[in-house]
Amino acid sequence: MKNTYYHQLLENNKEWVEEMTAKDKNYFEELSKGQKPPVLWIGCADSRVPANEITGTHPGELFVHRNIANMVVHTDMNMLSVLDYAVNHLGVTHIIVCGHYGCGGVAAAMQNKSLGLINKWIRNIKEVYKDNITELRKISDDKKRFDRLVELNVKAQVYDLAKTSIVQNAWKNNTGLEIHGWVYGLKDGVIKDLKVSMDSAEHLDAIFTFDLD
Ligand code: CO
Repeated sequence: MKNTYYHQLLENNKEWVEEMTAKDKNYFEELSKGQKPPVLWIGCADSRVPANEITGTHPGELFVHRNIANMVVHTDMNMLSVLDYAVNHLGVTHIIVCGHYGCGGVAAAMQNKSLGLINKWIRNIKEVYKDNITELRKISDDKKRFDRLVELNVKAQVYDLAKTSIVQNAWKNNTGLEIHGWVYGLKDGVIKDLKVSMDSAEHLDAIFTFDLD
């Protein structure tokens, strides 16, 4: 095989290993002993939103789950398994849902084109659109309406986290779990805290709270 971009990635890896071990020869040895990340990151799969780089964090600090448009879908066994493991085994104290302006998944949800299988996934965002139709209709600028739906979608996913028995159990057991919603700006690299954080089921609609013992 001729030298390709693919081979370059392996070369990059070798250089990285050398760089890290030059700084600390026990770096990988120490990391291999185990993880105790304080944060579960639920982000978009978009290649331009790498969780560690944009938060200045290192291996061992973020437990990461990424999917199209940073969704918390209650039938998604992958997300639920990550959430359960992060909260009940790793004992994370923060869950951050991080969306981003310019999200292709959110853009897809705002139009009517059929995209095949992904229609099923995108449908969840269309529900957020519908739930906020009054506010969104008032925004005449297409770009601003798109930005706002990105924010509202993150807010809805934070709320959907709060609706899980996994999160509610942690709150009941006073583990100090906090859930947060952020939006990352592709154009400036800045993260906006949407200030929709929750640390109890206090502000959750009663119908979504479980009787837990
Ligand atoms: Co995206």
